Amino acid sequence: MSHTSASDFIRSQILHSPRIAVVTGSGLGALGDALTDVQSVPFASIPDFPRATVEGHRGELCFGVLRAKPVYIMRGRVHFYEGYSLQQVTFYVRVLRALGVETLVLTNAAGGLNADFAAGDIMLIADHINLVGMAGHNPLHGPNDAALGPRFPSMNPAYDPHLRAVAKQVAQALQINLREGVYAAVAGPSFETAAELRALRLLGGDAVGMSTASECIVAVHSGMKVLGLSLITNLATGEPASERFTADELHHEVLAASEAAVPKMVKLISGVVEQI
Ligand code: HPA
Repeated sequence: MSHTSASDFIRSQILHSPRIAVVTGSGLGALGDALTDVQSVPFASIPDFPRATVEGHRGELCFGVLRAKPVYIMRGRVHFYEGYSLQQVTFYVRVLRALGVETLVLTNAAGGLNADFAAGDIMLIADHINLVGMAGHNPLHGPNDAALGPRFPSMNPAYDPHLRAVAKQVAQALQINLREGVYAAVAGPSFETAAELRALRLLGGDAVGMSTASECIVAVHSGMKVLGLSLITNLATGEPASERFTADELHHEVLAASEAAVPKMVKLISGVVEQI
């Protein structure tokens, strides 16, 4: 996997060099519709780019202008549970860095562990607990290329304090009730048992999801600033109420809740991008 072949190819297709990239998770691909001057490159045409296999995840890298700022939008991403290695999952982060991106906005769909949260809320990620990494699956596992970043990168803070402050200001101005909390990253694809959800809450998680932490690690390793936003698509509190969902219903609930909250997310991200 060579991120330089991928970045050279993208440079040949998109003749702009945005400093900001936004990654849109489950159902949030619609952010791309807020762009003007769009140019897009399907993942399938980019050398070494893995292809998304999940419903609700589009697979293209777009360039566009959002509130007068040039941005890349990653419409779709791949996940560890699809069978890709974490190096493949985070490959696009290296590519964006090679393209000159300095700020990475990661969005995801997540279950709400915090009992105060409701489906449709947006949570600003203050920090994460990377259970996947703590269990031995870290995207930086293996030899370190010092040209890309340090062997032992500090992850404190992982999510840029200034960007978090900007997100809070923008949310306040837009009267969006922005939640803030800790994102617990799990591998999936099975949803959590009630006991696992209780454990995640005890550990200090406010939301649980199957992406973002590995991407954040690689972004921080390569010197990028990261902002993380979780769309709370379902309550994952481990209360018996969640037992009425079959797996299919749960996935559809995730997609439906993100669809309903997309306009709010688009306004928030646009406002933040404008301020960067
Ligand atoms: N658990 C894990 N990942 C998720 C969830 C959940 O409840 N909802 C959306 N992504």
